[in-house]
Amino acid sequence: MTTRLIRLAIAGAFAIMVAGVVTWYLNAGPGSATGSDGPVPQPSFANVGGPFTLTDHTGAEVTDADYRGGYVLLYFGYTFCPDVCPTELWKIVQALGQMPEEVAAQVTPVLVTIDPQRDTPEALAQYVALFDPRMVGLTGTAEQIAAVADEYNVYYARVDDAEDPSRYTMDHSVYTYLVGPDGTVRNVFTNGQTAEQIAEAVTAEVEGGGSV
Ligand code: NI
Repeated sequence: MTTRLIRLAIAGAFAIMVAGVVTWYLNAGPGSATGSDGPVPQPSFANVGGPFTLTDHTGAEVTDADYRGGYVLLYFGYTFCPDVCPTELWKIVQALGQMPEEVAAQVTPVLVTIDPQRDTPEALAQYVALFDPRMVGLTGTAEQIAAVADEYNVYYARVDDAEDPSRYTMDHSVYTYLVGPDGTVRNVFTNGQTAEQIAEAVTAEVEGGGSV
């Protein structure tokens, strides 16, 4: 029963999305930020995504074109995040485990850091290894990160620790984008969605042949 209801909910969500009513996401599952003092600006998901050039956790330069042909679950966060990012990344790993094997094999989980100052390729390598051997960490210059975050309408801001100026956290919106084989965004997940819901939505998209 629960599964059927979730399927119906996902089908409904897709229908609404296709109709272009992106406000559904903002009402049903607004992304939150860690340590936010006020409301986080809510992005529009219309026309998000675009080309990027970044550095992966092995130190290699990568572009969006390197991920064409497969699906990507693209999450924006940072390794020093105390709670939300580890929770969301673990959820992505769980979702991959709940997809049929042939579907999961087509999906690459990717963390794009919004804290490039601390998230070097080395730091990302250690971090993503904690979650899944397939997980990719991407970093870059402050300008490269600002550019990709802007393309995906990701909000982030440094929050200095009042007691210890050497420490800081990052306020950031919490979104996971499902990017299709052609580089277009097919779906957006927030921290309001479960691993099971993500697994079902991704599976439907992948098995549907990416007709959105
Ligand atoms: Ni976080």
